[in-house]
Amino acid sequence: GLPARVRIHEVGARDGLQNEKAIVPTAVKAEFVRRLAGTGLTTIEATSFVHPKWVPQLADAEELYPEISGLPVSLPVLVPNEKGLDRALALGARRVAVFASATESFARANLNRTVDEALAMFEPVVTRAKGQDVHVRGYLSMCFGDPWEGPVPVPQVVRVCRALLDMGCDELSLGDTIGVATPGHVTALLGALSEAGVPVSALGVHFHDTYGQALANTLAALQQGVTTVDASAGGLGGCPYAKSATGNLATEDLVWMLRGLGIDTGVDLGRLVATSVWMAAHLGRPSPSRTVRALSHQ
Ligand code: HMG
Ligand code: MG
Repeated sequence: GLPARVRIHEVGARDGLQNEKAIVPTAVKAEFVRRLAGTGLTTIEATSFVHPKWVPQLADAEELYPEISGLPVSLPVLVPNEKGLDRALALGARRVAVFASATESFARANLNRTVDEALAMFEPVVTRAKGQDVHVRGYLSMCFGDPWEGPVPVPQVVRVCRALLDMGCDELSLGDTIGVATPGHVTALLGALSEAGVPVSALGVHFHDTYGQALANTLAALQQGVTTVDASAGGLGGCPYAKSATGNLATEDLVWMLRGLGIDTGVDLGRLVATSVWMAAHLGRPSPSRTVRALSHQ
């Protein structure tokens, strides 16, 4: 069966804009988040408190966050370490996300750490956040394939998922960072996690759309009981530290499919398309989303 309702975790302002060559002005980012909130999205990942040299596109987190913090939506932010957590808490953030890797190559490229060193870096972040009742999401990248290591063995993924949950993360997001997953692999990973005692209610999915499989993968995940799906408005996105990562599943493509399935998201598709068209004009190129193209004249 399929769920009656799906919560969309919108990542366009973070995963999308972190990968844009051009640096988007803070005021445009703030307006983007405001417009996204106006579409009915309830969880809008806003920015990252990472090292500004590693992700210059999000170096304005201190300026952006106060501009949007009054919106009546959840605004999770990425924090890799205690320094990032301090910066986020100082601005009143109530939802943070740490971001682990299932592979050594990506842990090194993205966090300058081994997998286990990165987990050790997250441990005090999660403990301190939970001590203040701050919600913690644990991302896990390279759950399916890795650009340096190839296909990623399922038990390797299950091990890091367990570690993140045991640490105290409230939810996990299973990342197909480079978009190589296919539905059978999704079903197999979710089956293995269930066997390992990981409740499906704690799992979200995060598909990049490099091979056009993101929507099919999402449907496979919904059939396994997943009800949290990450997507980015207009299909913005990628990861600067993973070659061949392209945009996330477009939120419009997801909403179109869910609407057809009778699954409620609370999102106004027309407003969302208008928001992505507006953002595309700022970025100077059309949205790659098929649904945005079909429903607009860009
Ligand atoms: P490092 O160089 O090992 O850092 O980087 P360090 O701990 O050795 O510290 C070096 C300096 O950085 C120190 O300053 C720190 O204070 C400073 P110094 O004493 O030399 O003057 N520093 C910071 N400054 C500001 N904010 C901070 C911070 N931390 C340290 N938070 C580090 C380690 C984790 C910092 C670095 O690797 C980093 O920032 N990485 C972030 C990479 C990133 O954001 N990647 C994209 C997000 S992940 C993603 O997109 C995947 C996802 O979408 C899911 C999927 O698709 O799979 C989530
Ligand atoms: Mg991503």
